[in-house]
Amino acid sequence: MTTIRDVAKLADVSVATVSRVLNQTGNVSPKTLQRVEAAISQLNYQPNDVARSLFKGRSKMIALFVPDIMNPFFPELARAAEDVASKHGYTFVLCNTDGDGEKELTYLKALKQKSVDGIIIVSSTLSKDAMAHLDLPIIALDRKIGTNIAAVTVNNRKAAQQAVTHLQEVGCKRIAHIRGPQGASNAEDRMAGYIDIVGQTDWFNPSFICEGDYTADHAYKAALDLLQQHPEIDGIFAANDLMGVGVLKAAAALGKKVPDELAVIGFDGIALGEVTIPTLSTMAQPTYDIGARAAEMLIEHIDTYDLNRFVEPVEYEVKLIKRQSTERRTNDDK
Ligand code: RIB
Repeated sequence: MTTIRDVAKLADVSVATVSRVLNQTGNVSPKTLQRVEAAISQLNYQPNDVARSLFKGRSKMIALFVPDIMNPFFPELARAAEDVASKHGYTFVLCNTDGDGEKELTYLKALKQKSVDGIIIVSSTLSKDAMAHLDLPIIALDRKIGTNIAAVTVNNRKAAQQAVTHLQEVGCKRIAHIRGPQGASNAEDRMAGYIDIVGQTDWFNPSFICEGDYTADHAYKAALDLLQQHPEIDGIFAANDLMGVGVLKAAAALGKKVPDELAVIGFDGIALGEVTIPTLSTMAQPTYDIGARAAEMLIEHIDTYDLNRFVEPVEYEVKLIKRQSTERRTNDDK
């Protein structure tokens, strides 16, 4: 098999020069370029990725960490990142972290050893300090990790305000919130948006905020308890759609009519919300777009890698989708 050394020998240049020609980096005189190209063509040399990675310390591989691909929000995100990666000639690795900090660190170390070129991370547990020594291009996606790591997110706080305002507009007078996991920046922002609106009302009650973990099961149990303790609650803003589905199930179990007795809105815009009975109103994220943007940013970051370069964060808007679970009540005094 022809190697880069054979090309260098035939062209009478160094291996580094051949590499500069192949990677189009650095200065090579037109005469040298011609000699190297002639040698490549004469030997029919095809640089392989392993050789490229050995020489440059690069693998043409990027990774995406998500908490759990079983959550229907993440496949679209992953698909987008993979599409962009393959368009740029990168292979793509997906890691499910279960939101477990230890697992995240183990994956980070293993990927670093395999010379991964960069990582897109959805995490609520990793700290920027844990990643500082990695010396790798990183983009945070969906959830922020400190302020030094560039993030692609949506405007969670504003979207939460819109969701709660929508519940008020359809006649809800006592609105509760099932929040996302502690430590997840988007869960904190969504809760802050809820408080921005209901914190100004005379009925605001901190016990209307329930712990949640972005799963339907947990939200189902939380909503059962909440609605039994506070039957006056007539609207719930769930911090994601899966939890919104859990709330619909709890309402059905308690015989509460949605939306007449209880209006429900989620967050994400997953397809599942279109087939529940009733269908679920939601704050829809531009999921494919944020996944694609994160991959574009990571690849650009890899190409121009400089630890000290500040990469601008990007924030997308979210769109209110009104469905049956918040259809205007016939009697606003309920
Ligand atoms: O449903 C998964 C949730 O986790 C989404 O709301 C998304 O924003 C992610 O953080």
